[in-house]
Amino acid sequence: MADVTHVYDKPPQGANADWTIPQQWERFSADEHGMWDRLFARQSAMLPGRAADAFMRGIDLLKLEQPGIPDYRALNARLMAATGWQVVAVPGLVPDAVFFDHLANRRFPAGNFIRSPEQLDYLQEPDVFHDVFGHVPMLADPVFADYMVAYGKGGLRSLGFGALHKLARLYWYTVEFGLIEEAGGLRIYGAGIVSSYGESLFALNDPSPNRIRFDLLRLMRSAYRIDDYQQSYFVIPSIEHLLKVTVETDFAPLYAQLEQLPDIAIADIIPSDQVITRGTQQYAQRRR
Ligand code: PHE
Ligand code: CO
Repeated sequence: MADVTHVYDKPPQGANADWTIPQQWERFSADEHGMWDRLFARQSAMLPGRAADAFMRGIDLLKLEQPGIPDYRALNARLMAATGWQVVAVPGLVPDAVFFDHLANRRFPAGNFIRSPEQLDYLQEPDVFHDVFGHVPMLADPVFADYMVAYGKGGLRSLGFGALHKLARLYWYTVEFGLIEEAGGLRIYGAGIVSSYGESLFALNDPSPNRIRFDLLRLMRSAYRIDDYQQSYFVIPSIEHLLKVTVETDFAPLYAQLEQLPDIAIADIIPSDQVITRGTQQYAQRRR
């Protein structure tokens, strides 16, 4: 239902101080498990050859092909063994500082509800399919796992500079909507893409969006949209590169520099960009 919201401003009744709740896996209905299976079947059929190696390996290692919404007791045993990460259930979106603190401590908060059949292709807030199918496979990759920890610590630090809105762009264009260049060509690894049937096709194959090589400062100047497919994607050469650049850069002077620089509009290409695909932007224009 469109009027049901899972966004709260304090931990709702029954939640712990860190906003976690018991998953209560037994409480999911057959229909809810069926919704997971339907989404899983559709994505897992189309992702080979499209999703990053690390993502596909994560699906295997975590045995996500087992039917139904994953029970975190079993999932976390495998995930912990791989990278020390675990999934924790939360009622919905949590405040920024709470979210960063979870990441910094290798806990990924996952919304403890699943979309309804009417929301098959679009929902406004992350459900368990987006959070677990989309995010958790990459957390089984040791390098990406370290990146997410560093991001959590960096997020807490950004709050002190009032720079969260700039840092959030890094999360958006990597963790949620990132592309990677592999030996076989471009692949998707961002959770917002891999958990969406439509955007998995669009991000890789549609002539509309720009595909631009990852550049930290450029990326953090870039606006993004939350209401439709992205108009630009940023392509990392490897997960190692992403980790190295972000960990070795002190963001304090970067935040100061960003204060002086104008934002770059969502569809714009600037002269210093290394462009892989110059998008036609036809999709976005048609949707306006
Ligand atoms: N190096 C960043 C800082 O100085 C922290 C960070 C690491 C941010 C990794 C994002 C990703 O704040
Ligand atoms: Co997400």
